[in-house]
Amino acid sequence: MTWRKARTGLQNLFRNPIARFLAAAVGSTLILVAALAPLASVLVEGWALQDVESRARLVFRSVRDQVATNLSASPGINLTPYFERMAEDERILALGYCTLDGKLEYPTKLLPRTIDCSQFARVATDTSRVVSQNGRRIHVAVFPMSLSSGAKGHLLILHDLSYADGRTRKAQIYVTLALVGAVLGLGLLGVAVIVAVIRRWTSSLRSTIEEMRGTPTLDRRARPSFPMGPELRALIHDLRVEQRFTEGIHIDWSPKTLAQLLTEELPGVNVLVVSNREPYIHNRNDNGEIEVQLPASGLVSALEPVMRTCRGTWIAHGSGTADRDTVDSRDHIRVPPESPEYTVRRLWLTDEELEGYYYGIANEGLWPLCHIAFVRPVFREQDWAQYVRVNQKFADAVAVEAQTDDPIVLVQDYHFALAPRMIRKLLPKATIITFWHIPWPNSETFGICPWRADIFDGLLGSTILGFHTQFHCNNFLEGADRFIESRIDRELSSVTVDAHETLIRPYPISIAWPPAAMEGQASISECRRALREQYGLPDDVRIAVGIERFDYTKGILDRIRAIDDLLIRRPEQKGRLVFIQAAAPSRSKLDVYHSLQSEALRLAEEVNARHGGPGYQPVRLVIRHHDQREVYALFRGADMCIVSSLHDGMNLVAKEFVAARDDEDGVLILSSFAGASRELAEALIVNPYDTHAMADAIGAAIDMPAEERRDRMRLMRDLVRRRNVYRWAAQMLLDAAHLRSRDKIMQETRYRR
Ligand code: G6P
Repeated sequence: MTWRKARTGLQNLFRNPIARFLAAAVGSTLILVAALAPLASVLVEGWALQDVESRARLVFRSVRDQVATNLSASPGINLTPYFERMAEDERILALGYCTLDGKLEYPTKLLPRTIDCSQFARVATDTSRVVSQNGRRIHVAVFPMSLSSGAKGHLLILHDLSYADGRTRKAQIYVTLALVGAVLGLGLLGVAVIVAVIRRWTSSLRSTIEEMRGTPTLDRRARPSFPMGPELRALIHDLRVEQRFTEGIHIDWSPKTLAQLLTEELPGVNVLVVSNREPYIHNRNDNGEIEVQLPASGLVSALEPVMRTCRGTWIAHGSGTADRDTVDSRDHIRVPPESPEYTVRRLWLTDEELEGYYYGIANEGLWPLCHIAFVRPVFREQDWAQYVRVNQKFADAVAVEAQTDDPIVLVQDYHFALAPRMIRKLLPKATIITFWHIPWPNSETFGICPWRADIFDGLLGSTILGFHTQFHCNNFLEGADRFIESRIDRELSSVTVDAHETLIRPYPISIAWPPAAMEGQASISECRRALREQYGLPDDVRIAVGIERFDYTKGILDRIRAIDDLLIRRPEQKGRLVFIQAAAPSRSKLDVYHSLQSEALRLAEEVNARHGGPGYQPVRLVIRHHDQREVYALFRGADMCIVSSLHDGMNLVAKEFVAARDDEDGVLILSSFAGASRELAEALIVNPYDTHAMADAIGAAIDMPAEERRDRMRLMRDLVRRRNVYRWAAQMLLDAAHLRSRDKIMQETRYRR
């Protein structure tokens, strides 16, 4: 076990390139030392012997004549003292003379007695040998001598080689040290180079990964400065694409990154939007002047900033009283009016068409069908005929407006359940992304619709069908399984009808960040002061606000009831709490909307009568259209916002309130039946049907300490900032880009076969 661990540890260590390099350096040093150290000894030994031999020769030459003369002239002479003097040289160990008959004469005192002269008897030329004595190595140089007397002999000059041994050892040490030093030096240089290379490579990789993540990101100029191999490049490309297709959560989405995405992933693509409501309505006022109005619609506030970025064509119903007067001959108008960036193509509908398609099927049929607000849906055959007709009209307009045969068409909402299939027939290569902005109910509920199969079939002409939440996607898949002939792939979350596959995906919608309406807003304290002045309220009054279209799904009556309940149970709040409900008239032609307004007015009056008095009315109902700047000013001046939808796909009011509060203050009370509650978990989440609970939430908002308000608001702001509407659009467009390249590959493969 321990061995295995050690082995794994070593394996892990050797995955590190620097560790591998160091190990290689140490290994090669050892090998070099092992190979070169003996070589060094041989060389040094050789030099030492040469040195000793030449010294011996030198000594021999200097004494030769003297010795020969002395021995020839005076045969009985004792040369030992002379030899002793010569041996005083520190290197010379001893001297002696061998006669030819093997006798040793005149030996100095250090001459080893083991030296046997008989072995030199036959030596005729200068020679030398190395002998050992008591572990000491001795160099013996033998020089033959001929005396004038005719006698012959050999002069022996002995050197102690221990100094040479010392030199050899030293040489070995120096060689080893030199090698280690050289290898270490080179090693350090190598490590420095590797570290520099790895750093540069890593930073290059990091910048590429940063590029994958977003800003400063998608900028092509921010390409890695360091050359990457083709494999790595391919891998990074795959990663990039994959990451984008899975989530894209790390990118700070903005108009700039969205525009870059279009340039990079969908170069030159033609984008078309199809929606009922137009982004700019031209109306003629009582003085006959033309006024531009931005409608109170979540869909419009989400798509407007996207279209400014994509610069495509938006096809919508021209509903304003001066709309016809402001278009060109092709029913086009460039918008936004102050600095045109994209085109709106207006379609004109007859009263009959509007009656059946918009008021009938869309708003009396599908709207209550999809929202669980307990209003009975109404389905009329003649309305359906108009719905089919108008859907075809819009599909035809798409075919006319498309500038290529494979545009991206963004079909919006329940007004156009049939258009995707119709567009597919006209433009088979189009990428159709349909977004359903309202909830999709379960199959029991949807099953009551007489045209349920047509609606499923129409929507499944899309390439991608988007909802706000996974829950709605699941409901759709379940319905498709039940009501039409199709193949469901739950893993891929797709439905295939007649070989055409539609992906079913959640794309939680959001708002632009920072919102345009925040530009030039007065400070929070100024907004608070202005709001109190506008409604004649003293400084210490807490203000709760609600703002939306006057729609029965929004739970407007329920929040007035909650205010009533709170004032009954906490009477000390009378005079200290005011609820301002701003409501834009909507679909007022329909009875259910009309009676909602009357009911709200009646209820507000009743509550005001119960709790109000001179100068104090707890409920203020303001029924008119508020433009976005007014909406944001209202949010900034208030203490809390109540979003109590009985059912809502997402609800952008909740996100707008959060975006308006750059002071990180204010409390959001949010219905658990709004899709936004899945994301804004730090709001006070309430069940709008539970009046007591909602009153308690309003009470909790009043009592909430400033620090808690800030902590909650901070988290919500961070989420809305990151998950903004550009991300919503980007996710859909990235999915579209992915499918388009996949289709291209499939087509090419088919062609080759
Ligand atoms: C909802 C729908 C949108 C619609 C908006 C306003 O948000 O999902 O499609 O634009 O209400 O409704 P209106 O009927 O006035 O267009």
